[in-house]
Amino acid sequence: MANFEVIIYEKKDGTGYITLNRPQALNAYNLKMRDELYEVLGAIRDDPEVEIVILHGAGEKAFCAGADLTEFLTAPSPIIARQARWERDVWGRFLSIDKPMIAAMHGYVLGSGIEMALCCDVRLASEDARFGLPEPGLGIIPAAGGSQTLPRTIGRAAALEILMSGRWINAEEARRLKLVNRVVSRSALLPEADKIAVKIKSHPALAVRCAKQAVMRGLGLTLVQGLELGVELGLRLMSLDKNE
Ligand code: COA
Repeated sequence: MANFEVIIYEKKDGTGYITLNRPQALNAYNLKMRDELYEVLGAIRDDPEVEIVILHGAGEKAFCAGADLTEFLTAPSPIIARQARWERDVWGRFLSIDKPMIAAMHGYVLGSGIEMALCCDVRLASEDARFGLPEPGLGIIPAAGGSQTLPRTIGRAAALEILMSGRWINAEEARRLKLVNRVVSRSALLPEADKIAVKIKSHPALAVRCAKQAVMRGLGLTLVQGLELGVELGLRLMSLDKNE
């Protein structure tokens, strides 16, 4: 795999670790990071050795402080930006991965930092994590699906308040709102993510992926359609098991 500049990718015992690695800029999401994430997520999707992914941020202060404001201020024209998004739809790629993904977050988790985490399946935060969507103050709305993924995760009222006011929340409130599954001490963050990964990996990978698919696809369906999907995936899983 290519040498990355702003992320680190490591693989160990079936877990793929993606580290956002621009600690000097609080891991702000820039175009280079978008391209590298796009590439690594494609590789992860196609790599049978990777069963689960853990996403976290390098350095002491942040998981990710949102979009890189220096690039934001020199943004290309909306047409070029839209073309680039279409060619490198990193958010679509996040959501196309049927393997479980865990976000392990510390420090600042802002803007696209939250949006990246919302594309993951399990979200862990350390006690020092602070979450916010500064977009309204910048005169924009979240560009990476946050206006859709946040209300689907924490409900309409809480999402609208955060999206419209830009109010930051701490780790404990994030847990109460169900933005994160669990809050742990800073030193326990990665070990806890690893523990969850080990537990998930102890189950047949196909069953885990079918469960993820059933939930993710089912959320956009009516209950009746969702139940049908559950049956269909269950049957497919049984027939694949028999043919193995
Ligand atoms: N884009 C580019 N650089 C960023 C950044 C961003 N989103 N967030 C932080 N940085 C850089 C700072 O410019 C600074 O660089 P410097 O050391 O070369 O001056 C470095 O990261 C450290 O940030 P600093 O502001 O000194 O840390 P802090 O602890 O005082 O404040 C924040 C942290 C997160 C409150 C503050 O950096 C901030 O408000 N960042 C912007 C958040 C934002 O609006 N993101 C966009 C969302 S759409």
